[in-house]
Amino acid sequence: KSDFLYQHQGFWGQPRLLLSSEACQKQFQAYDTDVLLATQPKSGTTWLKALAFAIANRKRYALSSHPLLLSISHKLVPFIEHGTSNDEVADHHQISNNYPSSQSQRVLSTHLPYASLPKSAKTSACPIVYLCRNPKDTFVSKWHYMSKIGSEDFGSLSIERAHDLYCRGVSLFGPFWKHILGYWEASLESPKKILFLTYEEMKEDTEYQVKRLAKHMGCPFSTEEENKGIIQDIIKLCSFENLKKLEESRENISIKDDDDDYTVFYRKGVVGDWVNYLTPQMAERLDQVTKEKLHDHGFPMFKD
Ligand code: A3P
Repeated sequence: KSDFLYQHQGFWGQPRLLLSSEACQKQFQAYDTDVLLATQPKSGTTWLKALAFAIANRKRYALSSHPLLLSISHKLVPFIEHGTSNDEVADHHQISNNYPSSQSQRVLSTHLPYASLPKSAKTSACPIVYLCRNPKDTFVSKWHYMSKIGSEDFGSLSIERAHDLYCRGVSLFGPFWKHILGYWEASLESPKKILFLTYEEMKEDTEYQVKRLAKHMGCPFSTEEENKGIIQDIIKLCSFENLKKLEESRENISIKDDDDDYTVFYRKGVVGDWVNYLTPQMAERLDQVTKEKLHDHGFPMFKD
């Protein structure tokens, strides 16, 4: 136990999260047609959810009346550690999407480590997509987010103290290296089942990675769709600038059904912002931990 997080099944979380993860493992049933998005917090979850939702539903909605224009991707793609049973996930789909979930590919997301996924997510044919991000940017993003929402784990900590804990592996769903290695090793064993993406590569060549994503989800873009510019439309719809603008305008005109401020999910959306927050010593220590825990185990270098 740290001051605010507990370790359970090898990862850190608040007690309510650890309990809901257990319930999820017992009750959640994946369908072969689902797609499961897995990430650590602050590694690009919002972006991946928006892209996967837009890809899965591209034949259903015109861009002018797309649900993403009205509802944030967090609402359209349920987290399975919170919506633990299939009924809850189905309810969620009906409430937010207003169409029967049975007719669409369910896009679900999770922060659970690979070892703690519900069994059916691993044994069913449902594709898994893992997105990771270089640890220095993930940490800086996380520190800003937690400070902004006043979180009970990192919320009131100085950046130095939060960094020390992060380097020692204490963070939600951490140690961060264990989370990444779990999915990385599983993706090497079952590349058809698990697509491993990085935030940096997504930023570098979004079109290429979006095509890979659609293919892995079982709905590759046809030549006709490519010629019509559908991929570019989806990329624009889900861009940082567009999602941020949409969220801010929702905030202003109050198309909201709760008090949560989702604008906090859009800060800078760039690679390498860590340089503005970490001292050279802090960066070096995190690099060293990353080297020992990830690169020395064969994990490729991050482009940061
Ligand atoms: P920064 O804090 O570095 O800006 P998550 O969605 O997992 O919580 O991750 C949040 C991070 O992803 C934030 O990073 C946020 O700005 C960035 N982000 C959100 N939407 C994005 C988008 N559409 N494209 C690129 N980055 C995005």
